[in-house]
Formats: sequence, structure tokens, C-alpha cells
Amino acid sequence: MSTPPTADNILQSPILIMAKRAALMRAQGRDVIDLTLGEPDFNAPPHVLEAAHAALSGRLTYSPSNGIEPLRHAIRMRMKDIRNLDYADGQVTVGCGAKQIIYNAFQATLKSGDEVIVPAPYWASYPAMIKMCGARPLIVSTTREEGFRLTAEHLEAALRLAKSPKWVVLNAPGNPSGSLYSRKQLLAIAEVLRRYPGVMVLSDDIYSEIRYTNDPYQTLAAVAPDLRDRILIVDGVSKVYAMTGWRVGWGCGPTPLITAISSVQSQNCTQTSTLSQLAAVAALNGSQALVKERNAIYRQRRDSALSVLGACEAIDVACPEGAFYLLPRIRTIKDDQAFALILLEAGVATVPGSAFGIPGHLRLSFATDESILIAGCERLVQKIKASV
Ligand SMILES: Cc1ncc(COP(=O)(O)O)c(C=O)c1O
Repeated sequence: MSTPPTADNILQSPILIMAKRAALMRAQGRDVIDLTLGEPDFNAPPHVLEAAHAALSGRLTYSPSNGIEPLRHAIRMRMKDIRNLDYADGQVTVGCGAKQIIYNAFQATLKSGDEVIVPAPYWASYPAMIKMCGARPLIVSTTREEGFRLTAEHLEAALRLAKSPKWVVLNAPGNPSGSLYSRKQLLAIAEVLRRYPGVMVLSDDIYSEIRYTNDPYQTLAAVAPDLRDRILIVDGVSKVYAMTGWRVGWGCGPTPLITAISSVQSQNCTQTSTLSQLAAVAALNGSQALVKERNAIYRQRRDSALSVLGACEAIDVACPEGAFYLLPRIRTIKDDQAFALILLEAGVATVPGSAFGIPGHLRLSFATDESILIAGCERLVQKIKASV
């Protein structure tokens, strides 16, 4: 049984720890290339900034804890347009980023002893949030050969072992893998889930609009409509519109769960900023041209970085289908955390794979200028060569 968390046993995000160290070294005048943060180096689209300026002349009052109506409406229209999923107004709620929606959902549904199935590599915050709610993450490792995707077989095995499984986490494109699921893979997962009717699915689709394939995006709720009452889709403006600091994310799912998430929100921070919500309406309703343009830039950066890393024999790296991370395995290292520190001293900040449940790897964000990214990858390769 898990012990309820205290301030002492809540781990700080390892991503933020590495980013802070890099920032400190830079403040001391050291030349450090920072490839740690999953934060676009672009600004919010100009029409979003204009809408926010205009909104400042009005009164920015409290909003409903599930978000302002025009934003909920824009989210529903977006889900219909791009996923062909209909959500009623009561099935959508807005929070301070996708992160808070996920936390509120866990807070509303998990109790001590419950389990959440989390495929590794995972976004480091899932296990931390699950533990903060007194529950237990059940980590299911995936391999490079499986494309770092949860297979139906491994899901079934984990569910069979679990004593009190409450949620399964699916995140595609994955952070840090960049992997997507095909319709066939999701259908196989759905088949397993039908045998476990009490288990809900967190479908974290935050990177869904940052993809480098032409295939349509596949999300479980669209692939298996009969499971929709058990699926929470989470998304937001942070990544796709480069609006990380605005803190707007949302959840779409069954009415009782959405109501519960909004109730938690109403008690812990009332709502996310009304100004940010108005900006998010502009992001969703305005031109989407910039999203395409930026994806082309990310893709170019990904390919350039891969050509540097791919030329090094000690590195094994997959080509991500989406998001903006590379996850190289360094064949010659024993301890990724120690190596990340050595690399930091050599002037490149990365996040050790252990933070994502995948030791032996490093995560590099390519949401940064191409020449800086390439210089960072070159430093990495040089250090690997010097270490063997
Ligand atoms: C997989 C994943 N989910 C959710 C989030 C949270 O995003 P937000 O800024 O909307 O809270 C992140 C941010 O890094 C992420 O990588």
C-alpha cells in the first residue's frame, strides 16, 4: 500500500533540475547548450497576442471553474473537426495546462492502493502525480523494437497482475519517444480494455498536432467509440501554439469524470487565468497556418540532428514520428545520470533517460534553434568518443 505523500517525498521534476543547473552555469558565464526543456522556442501566434491585448481593456473577472463558454465551445468544435468526436458542453473542462487536468483527474479518482498502468518511457510527471495521489504506478517497459509503444499483450499481462487497476496511460506522440499508435495497435488495446470494464484510459494527446507523418492521427476514443465513457482525452495550447506559460489545457470525457475534475479545480485554484482562456479561444479559432510552418521547421531540425547522431556508432537513435524529442541510447555508457552530468560539464544539458523510466538513454529536445541544436549534438558525439 502506498503511503500518502508529504512535502519531503514528492520528487522535483528531473527535467527542471537539469534545466536549472544549466541556467545556473550559464549565469556564471559558462557556455552551455540547453537541450532539456520541452518548450517551443517560438512565441504564441501574433493573432493570439493581439486578442490578449484587446482583452486587457475589458474586466477580467473570475470564470467558471470548467472554463469560459467560448473556450469550451472552441474545444468542442476542434474535437469535431479534427477527430470527428462529438462532446457535449458538460463533457469538456479547462484547467491550468494539461498537467493540472491530469492531476485533478487522478486526484478525483485514485485512492490509496490503486494502480495506474504507465508504459515506459513515460513523461516523468505521470508517476510523480500518481504517487502524490497515494496510488501506485505500474510501469510497463516497452522496447525500441516495439516502437516504444504499449502492446496489447503487455497491457493484458499488466492488468492481470494488477490488484486494483484504475487507469491506463496512453501518450502519443509520446514524450520522450515521439511514437504514434496505428489504428490496428489501438484496436488491439481496445480489445483488451473491453475485458477490464472498471479501468479508465488517460489519452494524453498534447503533442497530437506536432507530427511528421501524413497519416491521420489515431486516438483511442475515435478508434473504439464504445469505450468513450472510459476515456479522458487531454490536450492544450502549450506545445502546438507555443503557449507554455499561458497555462491552458483541457480534458474531454464522460460527464461524471469531467464534473469531478472541475470540482477539484474549483477548490484548488478556481480556474485558469481568464486572459489566457481568451487567448486560447483566439488560438483555436484563428488561422492554423503557423502550426504547419513550425512543424516543417521542427522536422528539419529533427533530421539535421539525426544525421549528426546517426553517424556515431555508439549511438542508437530512432526517428520520432511526432513531438520534439530525440531519445538516443548511448551504447558505451553504464550510468545515464552520471553521463548527463559529465555532458553538462562538457557544455550540453540533456535529461537522463532514467527520469523517463528508460536508463541508458538521454532525452534531447529539438525545440531549439537548428545551429544550437547541431552544436549540442556535436558536443555530445565528441564527449562519447572521448569517453571510450
Ligand atoms: C506528455 C505531456 N503531457 C502533458 C504535458 C503538460 O502540458 P501543459 O503545459 O499543458 O501542462 C506535457 C508537458 O511537458 C507533456 O510532455
